[in-house]
Amino acid sequence: MSKRTPLIAGNWKMNKTATEGVELVKALAAAVGIESSVNVVLCPPFTALSAVGAAIEGTHLGLGAQNMHDKTSGAFTGEISASMLRDLHVTHVIIGHSERRSIFGEDDAFANRKVLASLASSLKPILCVGELLSEREANQTMEVVRRQIELGLAGVPAAKAESLIIAYEPVWAIGTGKTATPAMAQEVHAFIRKLLAQQFGPETAARILILYGGSMKPDNADALLAEHDIDGGLIGGASLEAKSFVDLVRSAVKSVTR
Ligand code: 13P
Repeated sequence: MSKRTPLIAGNWKMNKTATEGVELVKALAAAVGIESSVNVVLCPPFTALSAVGAAIEGTHLGLGAQNMHDKTSGAFTGEISASMLRDLHVTHVIIGHSERRSIFGEDDAFANRKVLASLASSLKPILCVGELLSEREANQTMEVVRRQIELGLAGVPAAKAESLIIAYEPVWAIGTGKTATPAMAQEVHAFIRKLLAQQFGPETAARILILYGGSMKPDNADALLAEHDIDGGLIGGASLEAKSFVDLVRSAVKSVTR
């Protein structure tokens, strides 16, 4: 871990009603609500954003969304705009998650439009990239990640680049209990930082957070977070229970002081 302040983000996916979310937040706030050496962001479903936002008031916990549309308003049934998120005091938004890509057919161009729209609204995009198992087995990991980064970040103004967050989520590790080894993850993270340096310069690239996601759990977090270019985690399953999520936050705190 470097001087970058780590971020632990919980992606609740399509889990938890507003009521259940508030219960979870109460437990998290009691345990790590005033922790300030790392940043913690909760990304509940849209329907729980308002209630979770109210429940984290006065704590150090932040609020993120799982998706957004790139247009500001209009006839897009079922969609949510950046300004709607901002109105709920959302600060972060996950973009291009592999589930959006594989289940809902979203491509790099759409992710790119969302990244640009989120930055224009002063939301921090968490752009997800990562290869399928078949792509890793065919030695295409770097090629896939390069395409997703280059297309996903096309046209990002240098002045806004430090607001970017990248999440490397190998698709074969998501929700499977399989995780990239720290060395495998570090290799891809370092490659992503090299791509960021090519686009934005080394100093800016050194300040951009690159999170790991994919079956990150309390028992593998310390080793992952010890890697130089792994700046935190985007957590699915282990973010749904207070104990495991709190343990992950504590791992990140430990990684700062190590
Ligand atoms: P899991 O932690 O459940 O593998 O999910 C990772 C993920 O997709 C976070 O966005």
